[in-house]
Amino acid sequence: MIDFRSDNTGRAAPQILKALQEANEGTAPGYGADPWTARLQDRFSELFERRVRVFPVATGTAANALSLASLGPPWGLVYCSEMAHINTSETNATGFFGGGLKLVAVAGEHGRIDARALAERLEAIGPGQIHRGEPAVVSLTQATDLGAVYPLDELRRIAAVAAKRGLRIHMDGSRFANALARLECSPAEASWRCGVDILSLGATKNGGALCDAIVVFRPEFEDRLAVQLRRAGHTWSKMRFASAQLLAYVEDGLWLDLGRAANRIAARIAAGVEEGTPRSGTSRGTPMAGIRLIAPVEANEIFLELPAALMDALEAEGFLFYRRGPRLARFVCRSDATEEEADALLAALRRHLPAAS
Ligand SMILES: Cc1ncc(COP(=O)(O)O)c(C=O)c1O
Repeated sequence: MIDFRSDNTGRAAPQILKALQEANEGTAPGYGADPWTARLQDRFSELFERRVRVFPVATGTAANALSLASLGPPWGLVYCSEMAHINTSETNATGFFGGGLKLVAVAGEHGRIDARALAERLEAIGPGQIHRGEPAVVSLTQATDLGAVYPLDELRRIAAVAAKRGLRIHMDGSRFANALARLECSPAEASWRCGVDILSLGATKNGGALCDAIVVFRPEFEDRLAVQLRRAGHTWSKMRFASAQLLAYVEDGLWLDLGRAANRIAARIAAGVEEGTPRSGTSRGTPMAGIRLIAPVEANEIFLELPAALMDALEAEGFLFYRRGPRLARFVCRSDATEEEADALLAALRRHLPAAS
């Protein structure tokens, strides 16, 4: 079995398990009043180059829905990509926790939203027009649900459109570390310096164990979010274990090392599909005719259009991945995925392609 189903099928990084073990000493107050959670605030403030408030949460869905609920009123509209996880896969948790908050899909390529399309959407609702709801928040997924990454200038363009109408910006950073590894910029540059008010920061998918985080850049949203979290049962009583995981996640750049490792394996697969297997020296192979990447591989996910018979053959050989359509498959690289696994997939694709086409 070689597992490309998701980045949550992998192991937790040993450093994170060690941190859990080390936090298991003595007593500490509950509900975030412990020294680990206090250190987490300081450490993340240092990392993001401004004072932030960090709330550990159990899942990315909770991070997204509760963040959005604190950013918009119940009659608000949240603009997101059609492909966004909040739109496709969270049973409208945003609407539930937001008391009626509504998602509005905006056009764009490869899981991004397009700044111009957003501007047009907003222009369609004139100021004072009450019938459709109040434009309130833009939610951007970084890296996107199709494995692409917003460049910083594109984020700034969207933020400028949003600011013109007083909209808040939420970032679903379930794969923020993968995006950061790709962008090679600071966490601050990729978030609040591009206008992000609240970041859902993934850890579980990137070598974490049982914890994601919400990072709040604007103090005026902190108390509202704290109440939302308590109400939704997300104020963990033994918070020290959650905070210890997040501290270990960023210690010595672990999160970026893990993100980089997963991205590297995805890039190896993409290069193999697009250029054939890179050989020694400068010589290159040939592209795999009949297989197509439907989005640029800029993080750790690969979406391949390929013959259904080829998917059958891969499964028969023990490759695990998700079918996303009759001719569409998603392959996700874990932070602990190996070059051997990537090369085995490429070899199987090449081997079965002629008969499957
Ligand atoms: C982009 C994105 N956001 C949010 C989530 C939600 O995370 P969870 O499954 O932990 O609720 C996922 C999970 O696949 C995701 O891919």
